[in-house]
Amino acid sequence: MMVDSMYSKLALIFLGLLLAAVHGMTETHRVEEHLKRYGGDWPPEYIPNTPGWKRQMDKRFKQVLEMDNRHKKYDGWMQTVNMAFLAPNFTEYGMGLVRAPEDLTLTLQHEIRTAIKDGKTRKEHSIDAIGGPNGCDFVDRPDLTQRVVTELQPYTEAWVGMPLHPVLAYGFRLYLNESDLNMHVDKAQTHIISMIYHIDRSEDSQPWPVLIEDFKGNTHEIELQPGDILFYESSKCLHGRPSKYYGSWYTSVFVHYYPTNGWMDTDHNMECHYAIPPWWDTEVPPQDKTQEPLDILGTSFKEHNCPNEWHRTRPSDACPKENDAG
Ligand SMILES: *[C@@H]1O[C@H](CO)[C@@H](O)[C@H](O)[C@H]1NC(C)=O
Ligand SMILES: *[C@@H]1O[C@H](CO)[C@@H](O)[C@H](O)[C@H]1NC(C)=O
Repeated sequence: MMVDSMYSKLALIFLGLLLAAVHGMTETHRVEEHLKRYGGDWPPEYIPNTPGWKRQMDKRFKQVLEMDNRHKKYDGWMQTVNMAFLAPNFTEYGMGLVRAPEDLTLTLQHEIRTAIKDGKTRKEHSIDAIGGPNGCDFVDRPDLTQRVVTELQPYTEAWVGMPLHPVLAYGFRLYLNESDLNMHVDKAQTHIISMIYHIDRSEDSQPWPVLIEDFKGNTHEIELQPGDILFYESSKCLHGRPSKYYGSWYTSVFVHYYPTNGWMDTDHNMECHYAIPPWWDTEVPPQDKTQEPLDILGTSFKEHNCPNEWHRTRPSDACPKENDAG
């Protein structure tokens, strides 16, 4: 107990220093800015304000509040305020599935398979949200990723109904046997409207669904086919591949855009800090906890007690507290 509370105090001091160092911000200043924007109201109106989204976000805020590690808890708040009410939504569901132009897919498939056959892959640097013993491989073809970002921009703009500014196309990542990808949302400043363009996978691949939450509070499990594009509002809709991939390789390219109209006039990260209420680090005594325990790794989410460390990865999967959402 002693050690625990000393640890929390140290963690809090550390967090204070970290915030001050990274953002030139003290907790006092942060709370002032919070009160200017929100008064004492909590929670602000969710965006969108559908019953399903409200249920999902209320539950997530409870899970975050019940976390013990203060540093991770703050990170949990940062991610959740942006999802729940800071970032606007631009579509009804936050996600949509389309087919890529067939000739583009065929070209990419041919080039990636050739690169693999010729050993022209490298290791990707390690990424917090990606698990598994083998890391990921990577094929560097900036000419092709540039083609993807440019050719698909009109499709993305049509989906979202507004002009977009391209940020980057990241690829081509090859997930390897036993990879998984924790649930997460993307960078609040720049990764707003995104796509997962699934190019190809080895013949021995087993189905490996993407999980994604929509604005009605549903979690979808989507098995992308080669040539499928999943559009999604990536700083808002939690997504990942929490179950393990089995097979030799599975490749996609990730493309991110942000709205051209005034989006960069706001410092969206600072707004996340300011949106967190003053009482964010309130401790919930163990006997009062009602939620499935949540863990935050970097910016990604895990529920260690559930199958695949995430609730709802299969219709039949149940984790102990799934039904207590309220
Ligand atoms: C935001 O989501 C809500 C709920 O799905 C929807 O009614 C609304 O039209 C969406 N906003 C935009 C700009 O599409
Ligand atoms: C993937 O890993 C599993 C578990 O270790 C193993 O049984 C399987 O043979 C591996 N598959 C490939 C394609 O390496």
